[in-house]
Amino acid sequence: MSKLELGVCYYPEQWDPSQWRDDARRMVEMGLDWVRIAEFTWGLIEPARGQFRWDWLDEVIEILGDAGLKVMMSTPTAAPPKWLIDEHPEILPVGPDGRVRGYGARRHYCFSSEIYLSEAQRIATEYARRYGTNPHVHAWQIDNEYNDHDTVLSYSEAARIGFRRWLEQQYGTIDALNQTWGTVFWGSLYSAFGQIELPIGLVAAPNSTQALDFMRYSSDRVRLFNKAQVDVLRKHAPGREITHNFMAGSFEFDHHAVAADLDVVGFDSYPLGNLMGSTLSDDEKRRYLRTGAPDYQGFHCDLYRSQGRGRMWILEQQPGPVDWAAKNPAPAEGIVRLWTWAAYAHGAQAVMFFRWRQAKFAQEQYHTALLRSDNSPDQAATELTQIVKDRNALPPVERCKAKVAILLDYSSIWAADILPHDEDFPNAHIFREWYAGLRQLGADVDFLGPEDDLNGYALILLPQSMIVSANLAARISDSGAKLVIGARSGSKTPWMHTPENLAPGALAALTGVRVTRVESLPHLAQETVQLADGQRFAFCGWREIVETKEHVLARFDSAYCDGSPAVVRSDRAIYLAMIPRDRLLLSILRQAMEWAGISTLECDSDIRMTRRGNLQFAFNFGDVPKHLPVGEHRTFLLGADPVGARDLAVWQEDVTPKRTI
Ligand code: GAL
Repeated sequence: MSKLELGVCYYPEQWDPSQWRDDARRMVEMGLDWVRIAEFTWGLIEPARGQFRWDWLDEVIEILGDAGLKVMMSTPTAAPPKWLIDEHPEILPVGPDGRVRGYGARRHYCFSSEIYLSEAQRIATEYARRYGTNPHVHAWQIDNEYNDHDTVLSYSEAARIGFRRWLEQQYGTIDALNQTWGTVFWGSLYSAFGQIELPIGLVAAPNSTQALDFMRYSSDRVRLFNKAQVDVLRKHAPGREITHNFMAGSFEFDHHAVAADLDVVGFDSYPLGNLMGSTLSDDEKRRYLRTGAPDYQGFHCDLYRSQGRGRMWILEQQPGPVDWAAKNPAPAEGIVRLWTWAAYAHGAQAVMFFRWRQAKFAQEQYHTALLRSDNSPDQAATELTQIVKDRNALPPVERCKAKVAILLDYSSIWAADILPHDEDFPNAHIFREWYAGLRQLGADVDFLGPEDDLNGYALILLPQSMIVSANLAARISDSGAKLVIGARSGSKTPWMHTPENLAPGALAALTGVRVTRVESLPHLAQETVQLADGQRFAFCGWREIVETKEHVLARFDSAYCDGSPAVVRSDRAIYLAMIPRDRLLLSILRQAMEWAGISTLECDSDIRMTRRGNLQFAFNFGDVPKHLPVGEHRTFLLGADPVGARDLAVWQEDVTPKRTI
């Protein structure tokens, strides 16, 4: 599947059956290939334990399939039915305030519940037995958005029992746990695993290793829950693609680990919905109010494509205003088309729009769709006509391995949340800023998890790798890549201890630095960094005092900071003793790319260039036409130079890079 496939999320249960046939016909006429269904249907299919009403779903699948659509079936475990909750109220999750989260919406289950795990396997088996070999069903989505509504962490009794069991498996003896957690601190020793509580509702900060272990435990539960259903589907739905839909800005479980069990990683892309809740500045939000920030969708596409080993589908694409953000602006004309092709350029093999028709009742009534609730076409349906035409102009190609990769390890993000030391520490945002910097310099980017093969990259960035094991450091070293290593990296062992040799711990040999002190500064601080060419950049936030014999590329130059090294380069790595932003970040990334032998472009902040196979895409997120940052004389398959406002241009390059991921 290398030509873009298009699809839509469909809720036939919300509409009169007399509409189904007409819906299927219109979907095909619009050029759609896929239809995703059934992720919230458990209560309809099994209205009482053991009583199944399959007829309506059988009929839907037949109608859709007969019309020529490929069906993506879902397991319905994101919405357990009321009778099950009444039978086993202990399935319900418990929030960080210690209160039970109730029935009546969705995702009302706790990943730690063994009862729910076996019920989920049971219903997944029923669905898979019924439709696993149905010729119209080509793929399966498991559950729906594991962290939607913040449901990965739950503080239930089941979680308490599960956490204790998990700790016993990790540590073996309570003495080993006491030792590793350092419970001698504040005298908080345990004499049995059964004494250990969940890290909430405490008077002060919990033990940091305990807090990290709870994140690891909760993440393992998500993987186990997902894998249990993968196993069911592998058995009863042979040869069908298995996926789950990840969300933007979600770092609460280890997505690398869950992705390893899937065939395709799904991503739900809501560029405007996510913009409003993001940490971007007000200026950026204003500028990209109707387009989404140029790198937000790209970041997640690249992250999830990499986790999917090259296989990523957009399972939900925003079609117009959503209903769930604090403010819900309408997208600019043409932008749904731009998002769709940008997703494809970043490696998506399929893009499915959420949803077919706008709801008339219950939740999400203000969420737009391809069709309005009266069946008339809305913005995305109109843009879809153009997308389908564009598709004929582009030869099918696959994305190739990039020269630059970003290492993203979820446990490092958890670690900085647990010990922030700076209430504004940008943490996960650092990854997006570095990614955006690379993209502004024209680079295509892959992401790596700590278990991945690190070979074959000219440059690897570690924006915030707080936890680095000796093994990971050795593999980073063996990769031969040039490195850019952000502040705090290597500053904790996998057990949240300070390394014997101080930060950056296992990265000391690669960087040639030793961090002797860290401080965090308020926004009113006026500290600056001076580069060797005399340029000065303001910075604030995190700062490290480092000792080094390596080459110093920039120094802190305010009176207090006293000329100490801010950017240090060894023969393999550039180490940053602060968190650079904006022009300083761009300047460092540009130097690093040149050092690693990677050519750079200077893209206008509204222009993004992305390569897929031998197709070069350029996207203009701005509201006036912009010239391309590359030479002229090319034959365009789509668009032109200058690229129109909120438009794209595509042309073929002569050389096709060889390696694919
Ligand atoms: C997603 C969810 C969908 C729908 C959508 C609305 O997070 O998976 O079921 O609620 O948001 O934008």
